[in-house]
Amino acid sequence: MNADLVVVGSGFFGLTVARRCAEDLGLKVLVIDRRDHIGGNAYSEAEPETGIEVHRYGAHLFHTSNERVWQHVNRFTKFTPYVHRVFSTYSGGVYSMPVNLHTINQYFGKALGPDAARALVAEQAGEIDTAAADNFEDKAISLIGRPLYEAFFKGYTAKQWQTDPRNLPGATVTRLPVRYSYDNRYFNDTYEGLPVDGYTAWLERLADHENIEVRLGTDFFDASQEVSKGNVTGNVPVVYTGPVDTYFGDAEGQLSWRTLDFEQEVLPVGDFQGAPVMNYADEDVPYTRIHEFRHFHPERDYPKDKTVIMREFSRFAVAGDEPYYPVNTPEDRQKLLAYRDLASREQGVLFGGRLGTYKYLDMHMAIGAALSMVDNKLVPHFKDGAALV
Ligand code: FDA
Repeated sequence: MNADLVVVGSGFFGLTVARRCAEDLGLKVLVIDRRDHIGGNAYSEAEPETGIEVHRYGAHLFHTSNERVWQHVNRFTKFTPYVHRVFSTYSGGVYSMPVNLHTINQYFGKALGPDAARALVAEQAGEIDTAAADNFEDKAISLIGRPLYEAFFKGYTAKQWQTDPRNLPGATVTRLPVRYSYDNRYFNDTYEGLPVDGYTAWLERLADHENIEVRLGTDFFDASQEVSKGNVTGNVPVVYTGPVDTYFGDAEGQLSWRTLDFEQEVLPVGDFQGAPVMNYADEDVPYTRIHEFRHFHPERDYPKDKTVIMREFSRFAVAGDEPYYPVNTPEDRQKLLAYRDLASREQGVLFGGRLGTYKYLDMHMAIGAALSMVDNKLVPHFKDGAALV
């Protein structure tokens, strides 16, 4: 094996590390991924019948306020001026999300200004003291009042967690965004947009460097292949972005995750829902939301008589499922501390990315964390001989 560094995982974290090490440090980097495609969960592909770009692992919207990350990503892709907006269907009506002045006025059938709306929500939220609220439902009511909670969060949360919100810890909700204006942008970040040529083209450009080799269909734990844990660790420095519990053979127990099931369909209509994302807040609708991918790229010349939709269903992950969102129970946090301790003692291996740190990371956070890992760990190691832990 002719590599100075092995990177396990070709998601944004792994490829960002690989690119900087190849470019700035002149290292030969071998990136492996057990999947048959590059890019981790941000991977996207053209749906074959329509050519419409679909995000295989759930809709991905890029946004950031991190100037360094924005400069970095713009080296590899241009962005469209797309601005994300979300709607929610509840009890036969359609409302704007996150809850804003339009949502409030529409829901209560009023025409309140910002101060009056704030006073109304405060009065309704006064029913429960936030400090005393120890479950999700009470905490949410103490923040936004019962009517808005019951309409927009109760059913949706129950479907997301397959659990009555009264049985979810209050700590699950720290704040519920309410805007007392008609601003209905979903994200608050300075920069936002979608990659002009799609996510996969962006990720491929990131990997496109003479010092980077990407081997797909290669599992780090498959002892029969050259770049396996047994063959590599201790011999070549490793940046590992797979699940931290798997790395240690689940020695401290498995960390729990939520997963998503997607039901994709091509429909013989030019436009199904008139928006990229529609949430379904009613508990009796089994899915949490529907994505309609054509709306992510209104600038593209997509067919006018067909569209692609994807219904999203949420549940707890079992063995073999894709891990998507950390559940983060108190038991998970205990296990994570134990894994962090093991990881800190694993010489020559750095753990990163959403799976390696058991953290939900948006793309810009994964990229930012990868840039920091290069600055703080890999540059000192390869330039000054500092230990790699
Ligand atoms: P990522 O999971 O992408 O990559 C890890 C890679 O490691 C995978 O390719 C995997 O196959 C590989 N791997 C694991 N074990 C291995 C092994 N044993 N051997 C070899 N390879 C192995 N963010 C955002 O900014 N906007 C958004 O709209 C969304 N939307 C979104 C929706 C959903 C449903 C999810 C779950 C996540 C998002 N995200 C998001 C977050 C985004 O997906 C996330 O930031 C990136 O995937 C993080 O990149 P990583 O490289 O950390 O992990």
